[in-house]
Amino acid sequence: MKFTSFTSRVVFIWATLLTACFLVASELSSIQLEKEALLNTSWWSWQMNSSDHCQWYGITCDSTRHIIEILYSPQGELSQFNFSCFPNLKSLDFSSVYLTGSIPSQIGVLSKLKFLKLSYSQVTGVIPLEIGSLSSLMELDFSSNKLNGSIPSSVGRLTKLTTLSLSGNNFIGAIPSSIGDLIKLITLDLSGNAFTGAIPSSIGNLTKLTTLYLSSNTFTGAIPSSIGNLTKLTTLDLSSNTLTGAIPSSIGNLTKLTILNLSSNTLTGQIPSTIANLTNLEYLFLDSNQLSGPLPREIGNLKNLMELLLRGNNLIGPIPLTFGYLADLTHLALSSNKLNDSIPDELTQLTQLQFVDLSHNKLNGHIPIGINSCVGLSSLNLSYNHLSGRIPLKIGGYLLAQLDLSNNNLSGTIPDFPIPWMYLDLSYNNLEGPIPLELLNPKLIGNKGLCGAAYGFTPCEKKPNLIIVILPITTILTIQIFRFFSLKRKDKKALLSTSTRASKIRDVFSIWNFDGRIAFEDLIEATEGFDIKYCIGTGGYGSVYKAQLPQGKVVALKKLHSLEIEESASLNSFQNEVRVLSELRHRNIIKLYGYCLHKKCMFLIYEYMERGSLFCVLRNDDEALELDWTKRVNIVKAVAHALSYLHHDCTSSIVHRDISSNNILLNSELQAFVGDFGVARILHLDSSNRTMLAGTYGYIAPELAYTMVVTEKCDVYSFGVVALEVLMGRHPEEILSLSSSSSSTQNVMLIDVLDSRLSPPVNRIVKQEIMLVSTIAFACLRSKPKSRPTMKRVSQEFLKQKTSFAKSFGEISISELRNQEMYLFDEHDT
Ligand SMILES: *[C@@H]1O[C@H](CO)[C@@H](O)[C@H](O)[C@H]1NC(C)=O
Ligand SMILES: *[C@@H]1O[C@H](CO)[C@@H](O)[C@H](O)[C@H]1NC(C)=O
Repeated sequence: MKFTSFTSRVVFIWATLLTACFLVASELSSIQLEKEALLNTSWWSWQMNSSDHCQWYGITCDSTRHIIEILYSPQGELSQFNFSCFPNLKSLDFSSVYLTGSIPSQIGVLSKLKFLKLSYSQVTGVIPLEIGSLSSLMELDFSSNKLNGSIPSSVGRLTKLTTLSLSGNNFIGAIPSSIGDLIKLITLDLSGNAFTGAIPSSIGNLTKLTTLYLSSNTFTGAIPSSIGNLTKLTTLDLSSNTLTGAIPSSIGNLTKLTILNLSSNTLTGQIPSTIANLTNLEYLFLDSNQLSGPLPREIGNLKNLMELLLRGNNLIGPIPLTFGYLADLTHLALSSNKLNDSIPDELTQLTQLQFVDLSHNKLNGHIPIGINSCVGLSSLNLSYNHLSGRIPLKIGGYLLAQLDLSNNNLSGTIPDFPIPWMYLDLSYNNLEGPIPLELLNPKLIGNKGLCGAAYGFTPCEKKPNLIIVILPITTILTIQIFRFFSLKRKDKKALLSTSTRASKIRDVFSIWNFDGRIAFEDLIEATEGFDIKYCIGTGGYGSVYKAQLPQGKVVALKKLHSLEIEESASLNSFQNEVRVLSELRHRNIIKLYGYCLHKKCMFLIYEYMERGSLFCVLRNDDEALELDWTKRVNIVKAVAHALSYLHHDCTSSIVHRDISSNNILLNSELQAFVGDFGVARILHLDSSNRTMLAGTYGYIAPELAYTMVVTEKCDVYSFGVVALEVLMGRHPEEILSLSSSSSSTQNVMLIDVLDSRLSPPVNRIVKQEIMLVSTIAFACLRSKPKSRPTMKRVSQEFLKQKTSFAKSFGEISISELRNQEMYLFDEHDT
């Protein structure tokens, strides 16, 4: 048997280690030995058809055919692997949920190892002392295992380490001060263990650190002021420990920090004003401590701040006006402190705000009226303060889902909140007057002056009778509904029983508006008897007229073509239909103020939409430019919320059937409203959903062509088309016609199909939102209806606080969006 001198030398070293590998070494070459050791694990048995182990999955050999890299997810015990047989190994990654056993001391022989990763496994036991012999090690990752014991101080010998991650284990004891010798460390993650003792001040030696996680342990004592030496840190997380003392003012040296999390400790003293130097901070979490003193006005310097959480401290004094400079702020939580004075108007300049919690303080004065400009607001909690005055007529935009103003001294009446499904708590105030009917499950107790039998309060005094029947109708109908019911023949009995009422119904003229009345004559006068010069559009259903009423209000009149409504049964059905649809209340569904149903005049009265249809706006270059990316994303969200409401929040599901850019209307602020319930009807459980093919060409779900069964998922498809159309500025027909496997789409990037009339988005939040919209749009366009998400799900995705995508904006291709596995929901979702 021949040995190279190198092999002999290695064998000699091994002999001193008395390893099992040595026992067979005399008969086999070291290369053969490595292969034998792999075979003994039985982890690669499925690869036995190949005799060359260097070709096995996860194995990399060097030119001398020695194994230098193993990247494999084994199923079994670590003891099956004989570490001492792989002296040339440079990189070992055994991360696998099926890996058990403990780390053997023979791991110390791997003196060439640079990269060692055993994460997300079931490894138990302690870290052997011999770890200190891995003198080449640069990265050590034992995160998410079941390791215990303390960190051997021999770790301090691993002076080449750049990454040390021991997070998510059961380690105990103190951090050895020898940690300060690891001066090349860039990332240190000890979070999620049971470490105790103080954070050694030698940590200040690790001046190359960019990331330091010590969160979720039981570290005690003060934060060492040497932490101020770590000037390269971008993330510092010491949260969820039992740290005491003040935040060292040296923290102000860490000017590269983007994340500072010291929450859930018992820190005392004031927030140091040096915090003002941390101008790169995006997340500042100091909540759940015992910090006292005022809120430093210098926080207003932190221009990049997105989330500021200071709740659960003993902070006093006013909210500084300088907070109005935090233009990127999305989350502001100052609750459970002792803040007083009024809420500064300056806060309402923060148009990115989504979550605001100022509850449990001593704030007084009024709720700033300007709060209506925080259009992205989804949750506002001002409960348990001393706020007085009226509730502003408009709070936030149309994304508001939670509003808690309970336990204050607010007075006056409850404004018309246009989102019935929102969580609303107004209890324990001094509110009075009638309760708007739009509210679904409001919490209102403890307001003596409120009235409204529907909500269990004393009935309100009757209003003076109106000339016309008052019907608070908030949706729209078109002639097609009418036609649908006129086609539907009721049996003769029903016909007879309703014939007497029908004669009355024939002359019904139901109108409602803010003043309680619109005179029929006014409408005729305003349009000079439906003169063509007031006509703003025509369609198969009829013509639309713009009418300015004497009170100044502008409405749209949809005059229906001649109808065959002579048949009383269909008239009656129409009445019922109106009643059901009048229960719809949603701020993104166009309002129907009333209708006139008379042989000579048949028209519907809608809210007037100044900017007309989305279709027209997108096709006019000047108007399309006005629709910036944020407005476009908001249009898609608005349509999603409206459809989710129609599908899921009504007593019986309502399918729109004709979602297209023609049927989405825009008001003067370019906010979107779903209109034209062309052929919508209530989906009765027992009725067949078969129908004549309806909808607009280019928006119709593919299955409708052959099944003729209309479901909510048809609307979902049409919504997907509209969403892409909004992003692309034109109908996405090319993309819809390309098959997903076609190689021609492989390299089409999202960024290349966006509406080129607008400059590409630069704001990070906007980019994320566009990615979210396009991801959802493609999920909605799946050919199988079941694979499409429900509108409820889509609406929820849009309401979620955060989304992050693995890829950057410029790198996402259409085929990736189309093939993503996300949002694959089936029936249990609905
Ligand atoms: C060996 O079998 C595996 C799994 O069946 C297969 O992926 C691999 O290509 C085969 N290798 C050779 C050399 O046949
Ligand atoms: C608002 O804050 C109070 C007190 O902090 C809390 O009890 C309540 O649940 C919060 N409301 C909402 C809607 O989160």
